[in-house]
Amino acid sequence: MTTPAAPVAGGPSLREVIRRSASYLERHGIERPRPEVETLLMHLLGTDRAGLYARRRGLDVRTAQALGRALCRRAAGTPLQHVTGEQQFLDLVLRVEPGVFVPRPETEGLVLAALEALEGWPSPAVVDVGTGTGAVALAIASRRPDARVLATDVSAEAVALARANAERLGLPVEVLRGDLLGPVPAELRGRLALLVSNPPYLDPEAYDDLPAEVRADPYEALVGGTDVHRRLAGAAVAWLAPGGWLALEIGDAQAGEVRDLILAALPGARVEVRPDLAGRDRVLLARAPGVPGSDARDLGAR
Ligand SMILES: C[S@@+](CC[C@H](N)C(=O)[O-])C[C@H]1O[C@@H](n2cnc3c(N)ncnc32)[C@H](O)[C@@H]1O
Repeated sequence: MTTPAAPVAGGPSLREVIRRSASYLERHGIERPRPEVETLLMHLLGTDRAGLYARRRGLDVRTAQALGRALCRRAAGTPLQHVTGEQQFLDLVLRVEPGVFVPRPETEGLVLAALEALEGWPSPAVVDVGTGTGAVALAIASRRPDARVLATDVSAEAVALARANAERLGLPVEVLRGDLLGPVPAELRGRLALLVSNPPYLDPEAYDDLPAEVRADPYEALVGGTDVHRRLAGAAVAWLAPGGWLALEIGDAQAGEVRDLILAALPGARVEVRPDLAGRDRVLLARAPGVPGSDARDLGAR
């Protein structure tokens, strides 16, 4: 039996701990110090924001020490998600690790657009290319239990982490290691309702100017320009079912270029660009010609 940890005798109230910790992070250049302290405390205390502010007592000694260590790591530039080891993505809490891209809130928009595209498509087959932690594939699998969801990544670390996340969340995503759709079973050619990806899309020239925290993600997960978009557009011809969807996250200046390369690879596709709440182009949806449910060969040359 473990004994409850002793409160810090005469220690500060929780509100005071939050205030002092936020001020410490602010002095170390952290832009949103208070929400970050709240996140650290929610993680350490295993509670949500309401639980945090309903708490009457201060911190016990062990938690106070753990908070001190976490604040030092954060002040030294370790990304918050690497300190807590987790990141919320839509309604899922995902494990994250150094060496694997940390899912971003922008990508939630890609998932919501993809789910909308899948509405009315029974038992869709879905592939998420470049899955990282598994964020996109897992979010789709959690909201579409009738879907068969596969995910690929070239990175062995990403594949191991995505598999661990799928197992922990009890979601049946098949995670495969390899380039683009290389490891996807051939029986799914011409049968995908959705090919979705948040590929590496930054330009190499932009890399050196990125904040250190962004550069904590692997280079190969960040930098790629429109190369993966182009290769995926080419692959879509062979892998999408008639009327199937290609859903891609894009850099905010890439919409025109990616639209053109999709139309070149997938003539007759309907392309739509979805801006985010700030009005930046972030998601591009393309629908292959053809009627869902018709023979895949109707799409022509494959
Ligand atoms: C920007 S991260 C996105 C990760 C995840 N989908 C997300 O949104 O959080 C891009 C991912 O694509 C993977 N990747 C890069 N090139 C790839 C390729 N040719 N085939 C498969 N995966 C690739 C990287 O390893 C990385 O995990």
